[in-house]
Amino acid sequence: MLPIMRNSKTKSIVITGHSIGGAIASLCSLWLLAYLQHISSSISVLCITFGSPMLGNQSFSNAILKERWGANFIHMVTKHDIMPRILFAPTMPHIAQLNSLLQFWQFSMANPSSLGNLAMQVTDGDKAELFSFVTTYLHHAATQEGVEGFFRPFGSFLFVSDEGAVCVESSAAVIKMMHLMFVTSSPDSNK
Ligand SMILES: *[C@@H]1O[C@H](CO)[C@@H](O)[C@H](O)[C@H]1NC(C)=O
Repeated sequence: MLPIMRNSKTKSIVITGHSIGGAIASLCSLWLLAYLQHISSSISVLCITFGSPMLGNQSFSNAILKERWGANFIHMVTKHDIMPRILFAPTMPHIAQLNSLLQFWQFSMANPSSLGNLAMQVTDGDKAELFSFVTTYLHHAATQEGVEGFFRPFGSFLFVSDEGAVCVESSAAVIKMMHLMFVTSSPDSNK
């Protein structure tokens, strides 16, 4: 038995993570859901991710729906965040400073004042190139219903911007929102 469950007062477990940590939180939650189901436990699991990259394809998403685990997942996605969208591009462009660029993108949302060294390694050209690269594939994914091989969202998505928030559950609608919100931003608006 897991240590957290030795306490008989445990009624629910919340698992959370940011960016790649969000994908890990989802995997962790799936493992836990399967485990709790196996031991017929009534403890509930809620997974809340922030800016998590996509995790699996259509079959993966279907399997989660079939187990009725979709409602256990809430994914927060902000308007300009490239991380939840990046895996719609099957490969990455050959941008010399890609790693710095991704870190820049991530930190610029979390803590704009601490960019210092990173910002110096990132050019506007590189930023624009990565932005348009991801936008192209996102457009493709949003307009080609049910194309195999694409990553497929599961669970509820909460899209957040300055104007407010909207919750979307259908995976096709999630991909469309990912695309629409991103194209109405720009490589420089992620501040
Ligand atoms: C999803 O990925 C798994 C593992 O790679 C593969 O077996 C399956 O055929 C894929 N499903 C779709 C719909 O692409």
